[in-house]
Amino acid sequence: MPTYKHLLFEEQNQIATITFNRPKALNALNQELLQELAGLLDVIAGNEDWRVLVLTGAGEKAFVAGADITELATLNALQGKYFAKLGQDVINRLQHLPIPVIAAVNGYALGGGSEMALACDFIYAADSAMFGLPEINLGLIPGFGGTQRLARLIGRNRAKELIFTGRMVKADEARDIGLVNKVCPADALMDEVLKTAALMAQKGKVSLRAAKQAINKGLDVDLATGCEIERDAFALCMASDDAKEGTTAFLEKRPAEFKGRLNE
Ligand code: CAA
Repeated sequence: MPTYKHLLFEEQNQIATITFNRPKALNALNQELLQELAGLLDVIAGNEDWRVLVLTGAGEKAFVAGADITELATLNALQGKYFAKLGQDVINRLQHLPIPVIAAVNGYALGGGSEMALACDFIYAADSAMFGLPEINLGLIPGFGGTQRLARLIGRNRAKELIFTGRMVKADEARDIGLVNKVCPADALMDEVLKTAALMAQKGKVSLRAAKQAINKGLDVDLATGCEIERDAFALCMASDDAKEGTTAFLEKRPAEFKGRLNE
């Protein structure tokens, strides 16, 4: 594995973990970090062994406190557009990663940090976590997909209120509005995330990927087209050894042992 200046990478029991690692700047996203993340996500996308990816932040204070404002402050309009494109491209890559991604939000997830978490498949948060899109306070708007993904996840009007005011929400409120799946005591967060990741890692690789793709692609189209996407994904699963093993194991009253290969 290559080494990274601003990211830590670990892998255990088929679960990969990326830790944003600029704790002195509350893990703010500078261009170098975003470029490193793009490269690492490509490595993960091409690896057959890792079943689930977890994202978290170094230190106790922040997941990611946003795009790096010291860099932002120096950009002109054209450079700002490039910066937003860089962030959006990386975050799109994260959303479309074939394996499930869990955000373990252990503190501030602001601006680009919330936008990163929004592109994950779901979010678990420490009870100390704070979410927000405070760009309005900088005379800006979210530039890494926040205006789009937040409205899609929690609804147009709630998203507008949060983006227009820049108000931060605590973990409990984030759960109540559907942004966060689960809130845990801070010291139990990683255990809870890894427990859920391990549960998913035992499932069939083909069906896990197919479920993720069907849900993601289906959300961008009408219901009939979404059901067509689901049928194709279902057929792909039927062609896998995993489906043969899963159905046979059920009928033989034994636990399934998924190997995750397509049959010939
Ligand atoms: N960029 C660069 N540095 C940052 C940062 C950021 N987004 N957030 C925090 N830091 C730095 C601080 O400048 C400070 O550095 P120094 O010690 O060198 O002074 C260090 O991290 C610790 O931060 P604070 O002293 O401010 O800590 P605090 O506990 O008083 O406050 C905070 C914590 C409320 C998160 C506060 O740091 C804050 O408001 N940060 C900025 C949040 C923000 O506006 N994010 C949006 C960025 S723009 C964006 O993301 C655009 C986009 O959509 C792409």
